[in-house]
Amino acid sequence: METISKINEIRNIINEWKRQGLTIGFVPTMGCLHQGHLSLIEQAKNENDKVIVSIFVNPLQFRPNEDFSRYPRSLDKDLEGCRNFGADLVFTPSLNDLLPEKNLVYVDVDLLGNNLCGSSREGHFRGVCTIVAKLFNILTPDKSYFGEKDAQQLAIITRMAEDLNFNTKIVPCAIVRESDGLAMSSRNVYLTLEERQAATIISKSLSSAKSLLQKGKRDSLNIKSFIIDSIKTEPLANIDYVEIVDHSTLQFVDIIEKPILIAVAVYFGKTRLIDNLTYKEV
Ligand code: PAF
Repeated sequence: METISKINEIRNIINEWKRQGLTIGFVPTMGCLHQGHLSLIEQAKNENDKVIVSIFVNPLQFRPNEDFSRYPRSLDKDLEGCRNFGADLVFTPSLNDLLPEKNLVYVDVDLLGNNLCGSSREGHFRGVCTIVAKLFNILTPDKSYFGEKDAQQLAIITRMAEDLNFNTKIVPCAIVRESDGLAMSSRNVYLTLEERQAATIISKSLSSAKSLLQKGKRDSLNIKSFIIDSIKTEPLANIDYVEIVDHSTLQFVDIIEKPILIAVAVYFGKTRLIDNLTYKEV
């Protein structure tokens, strides 16, 4: 496995792979890799000849009051994980190379980026799309792997690939959870012991909501209130949002008649965690 930080060097390697007719799977990350990321690398390895993982903490997707400077960084451990799970190349561009100060062009997203995380993290998806578009252009992957935990990001990137004609297939990958149900996230390392225990209320509340749906409940306001009340039973939880949206358009729904996404964001102390549930059996 090679680690490359220069754009022209990685392009040369990719050109050679393409010349040999090899397919490329791509896993974009911001590092601090956990089992969720490693499962994406594993899937990419099974479906492609070569796998590239990028590690770049993207300042464009953090608001000024967010955790960019303290975002966890663990390059040595990340490289070990990438190697163990079969990555061929790790791309670690410098800030100056990937986002030079002269950068004037950004990728903006309409509609899909306006609610959920888009409303509480203004500019976040513009930052994500801009960096992912750059990475797609540099690495020209055949397939790109994104976790379903970031459901809104996945929907937006899928739409970006379609609308901007990127020649890469976006592959959604299932959420990976801890044994007690907490969705794996690089931000889980911020949690104190008490917050870590309290955070299981998110997946518990989503599972209970799923039972309501399975019993035929279809009024989204009722289900939303049920989830809010359930999360509020945990005193350390501070809800950012709980929303029920159409699975593909991400627009709010009143009556659940089509596949939906229940998306939640909850603070535990300063740590904001997201999770979601897709329900398609309607
Ligand atoms: O999901 C992430 O880690 C980031 O949003 C991504 C896709 C690597 C872009 O910076």
